[in-house]
Amino acid sequence: MEKLIIQGNHPLNGEIKISGAKNAALPILAASLLSQSSIQISNIPHLQDVTTIVSLLGQMGANITLDERTNIEVNASQLTSFHAPYDLVRTMRASILVLGPLLSRLGEAEVSLPGGCAIGTRPVDQHLKGLQAMGAEIQIERGYIKAKAKQLRGTRIVMDIVTVTGTENIMMAGVLAKGQTIIQNAAREPEVEDLANFLNTLGAKISGAGTSTIVIDGVEKLGGGCYHVLPDRIETGTYLAAAAITSGKIKLKNTRPDLLKSVLVKLEEAGAEIETGIDWISLDMKGKRPRAVNVSTAPYPAFPTDMQAQIMALNAVAEGSGSITETVFENRFMHVQELQRMGANISLKGNTAICTGTPDLHGAPVMATDLRASASLVLAGLAAKGETVINRIYHIDRGYECIEEKLAQLGARIHRLP
Ligand code: EPU
Repeated sequence: MEKLIIQGNHPLNGEIKISGAKNAALPILAASLLSQSSIQISNIPHLQDVTTIVSLLGQMGANITLDERTNIEVNASQLTSFHAPYDLVRTMRASILVLGPLLSRLGEAEVSLPGGCAIGTRPVDQHLKGLQAMGAEIQIERGYIKAKAKQLRGTRIVMDIVTVTGTENIMMAGVLAKGQTIIQNAAREPEVEDLANFLNTLGAKISGAGTSTIVIDGVEKLGGGCYHVLPDRIETGTYLAAAAITSGKIKLKNTRPDLLKSVLVKLEEAGAEIETGIDWISLDMKGKRPRAVNVSTAPYPAFPTDMQAQIMALNAVAEGSGSITETVFENRFMHVQELQRMGANISLKGNTAICTGTPDLHGAPVMATDLRASASLVLAGLAAKGETVINRIYHIDRGYECIEEKLAQLGARIHRLP
């Protein structure tokens, strides 16, 4: 199994480009099942999760052309299957995103229940409840969600909790439904808005995406079009945290500072000097050790759960103590024990981690447990003295494009052991 080897304790310095957002590319690719015309999507990141959803669309009969850059053409005019098998879905929970489009387009969908997850139980009850309210008949049989609806009908849906893919699934189902669908207590994440912008490019009538009430007026069919996926705010935040933790200075291009205000505020609190333009962010720690920060995760626009592990790594080397409270997922602290193996001083009380920083984090062999936990171990490895070996890095390849190349471009001493 591949490993990442890092020789730490060197400040990052330089410029890199940020890739397209994984969590926008995945729903956008799933949503392309709704159209019978040809669609070109650019700024798609090269990631394992993208490969998985492309395989899933291929199995359904969609015709997919990839070029060697970041462009994908999807033509889903001839769908031959509404079945999303366990073998693919279990490797990526976001596969649930094909449920709404398949049901809406074909009147039937069979999608495996995603099963266990390292960061929490992650049920899909809100997805199913919304689709049922739109007239779908849903049964769970032998681990599969079996959904049928001759014609979905628009209705008012009040989500019990804020869910990103739940909002996206219902929004996609509403596009070809009869009448108006209103989603209240919708997720406001920029990726939800990007999906709505993509669908509107194809002829959908969605308004309010990016707010907590989304209105979808059903249309008969969608056409084709071209769309450029928005930049990855979590990849951006991860590299900024990497520069801060190593007391470095970097500039990130092809990104959107307006999408990560809550993260930039915390990095400034940690002592970083940040400058922004429309599509770039620079961070300078001026060779200083960061200060510990207090963070509580919550849905957008609050501090993202997908940046929690990386900020924990920052607190692990910072001056002073900081508390991190995770309110979105119930078990997203798997990185704590691995960080402790590198010398971090972290104690857990319920869903809060209190961390007192040490300037003496040391390299160690560690194990990645999920995508963002892996990122936090890479960050800790960059700051630690000596060598860190990160095992099970397939997690990181799910969400960070060419991570070792990008870090090496910033001067990190990192390589992959095949
Ligand atoms: N939840 C329910 N019922 C549902 C749906 C969600 O109880 O029907 C709960 C979840 O268990 C969780 C909370 O609601 O406690 C929020 O989960 P949400 O549904 O918003 O998460 P998701 O849509 O499955 C997306 C991202 C995650 C990100 C979360 C939160 C994608 C493909 N995934 O997941 O990204 O952490 O929103 O922002 O968009 C990652 O990129 O590393 C990642 C895990």
